[in-house]
Amino acid sequence: MTGRLHLNLFIQSRGHHEASWRHPNASKLALTDIRYTAEMAKKAEARLFDSIFLADVLGLWNDVEKTPFNWLEPITTLAALAMATSRIGLIATASTTYTEPYNLARYFSSLDHISRGRIGWNIVTTWSPQAGSSFGGIGQVSHADRYERAEEYMTVVKGLWDSWADDAVLDDRDGGHYADPKRVRSVNHEGAHYKVKGPLNLPRSPQGRPVFVQAGSSDAGRQFAAHHAEAVFTAHLEKATARTFYADLKVLLADFGRNPDGVLILPGFSPIIGSTEAEARRYADALNELADPEIGRQRLSLRFGGHDFSHLPLDKKLTPADFPDPGTVEAARSRTEVIVGFVRQEQPTLRQLLAKLAGARGHFTFEGTPEQVADLMEQWIAEGAADGFNLMPPVLPEMLDVFIAEVVPILRRRGLFRTAYEGETLRSHFGLARPSVQAL
Ligand SMILES: Cc1cc2nc3c(=O)[nH]c(=O)nc-3n(C[C@H](O)[C@H](O)[C@H](O)COP(=O)(O)O)c2cc1C
Repeated sequence: MTGRLHLNLFIQSRGHHEASWRHPNASKLALTDIRYTAEMAKKAEARLFDSIFLADVLGLWNDVEKTPFNWLEPITTLAALAMATSRIGLIATASTTYTEPYNLARYFSSLDHISRGRIGWNIVTTWSPQAGSSFGGIGQVSHADRYERAEEYMTVVKGLWDSWADDAVLDDRDGGHYADPKRVRSVNHEGAHYKVKGPLNLPRSPQGRPVFVQAGSSDAGRQFAAHHAEAVFTAHLEKATARTFYADLKVLLADFGRNPDGVLILPGFSPIIGSTEAEARRYADALNELADPEIGRQRLSLRFGGHDFSHLPLDKKLTPADFPDPGTVEAARSRTEVIVGFVRQEQPTLRQLLAKLAGARGHFTFEGTPEQVADLMEQWIAEGAADGFNLMPPVLPEMLDVFIAEVVPILRRRGLFRTAYEGETLRSHFGLARPSVQAL
């Protein structure tokens, strides 16, 4: 039976808490050791998660002395994970701003072949200023231009993935015909940003193309999601904003003539699970003790495009006036909206805000028992805040192990989560149809 809830495991650092890499129960393996990532993916597969996901920031942040915010390159890592697993979906981030569409189309088509149809592409426009300084001398592209380029980019890559009909490869060894040239076509795209002739030099892959995942939630990001996404990752510090986002996006999908139920919305969720609430809180306190608020301050500045927060005392109560207007931010715009919204609602001190963001960078954090975690997940689904979750364990593998051992069985008992994989591809885990090639 397939339940109603989808689960993606987001693997990053030794967990999503900023200080996870120092935690005594975090993995002992090096972060560059593929066995570490493979071990997490295999655990998630054994418990029938839909997918695992890897992010990418395309540049080294300025706090490497204090935090390992860097990891193996995601596309090549997925190739290794494809061989280490057999059923779970595999999603990697790649940038429309800093990758040529022909390269990206080849990489993801190749991965979909290698994994036999388990690949998803997390489409990002890349907000980090560091990326701009290392690619092609174009500098940081503005928020609006990034999304405009991304639209054209999608036209190109969709054309490339559709450049081979499903039946183009004949492999007729006796007759001497490898492919039917009438079933392979050029793209001949000429636009403002890209000139791509095509066709792709790879036959169509098992899923036709990767599943389109999207993770920017600003107004422009939502428009983009409504146009292209098949699953959406999103960050919220409060259930109320997750519900609003969910409702807005489903309406936008209908406006774009798409089936709102056909696109999954998966908010980030980072639970600290204890056998009692007090135990979970103690675990959270110990983790927060390991975090450095000055690193948090630098991260905050980065999200807001380099805004200077150095003059703010840690114990000052914050107001929205302490922040730039998110509408003017060229960096991670929707994350800045989430942060300023939280400040307006809760009036935390800077220290409290930084502790909150250290938990999972602006995603929802929670401390409680397995029953409470399952209740929360059930409520979010029932109340229209989520179709599933992007699970972000604060410490890996420990909090993944606890989630798997204690929470997954409760979700199953409640009929909320699958007890077997029903299909072989990520599309089938997500309940998505395979796209057909536009007529050749
Ligand atoms: C779960 C999740 C994962 C993300 N992963 C990445 C990533 O790997 N690389 C990246 O540049 N941005 C990532 N983002 C950020 C967004 O894709 C987006 O770039 C950023 O929020 C700015 O877009 P926006 O202004 O539309 O929100 C992620 C966002 C979410 C919610």
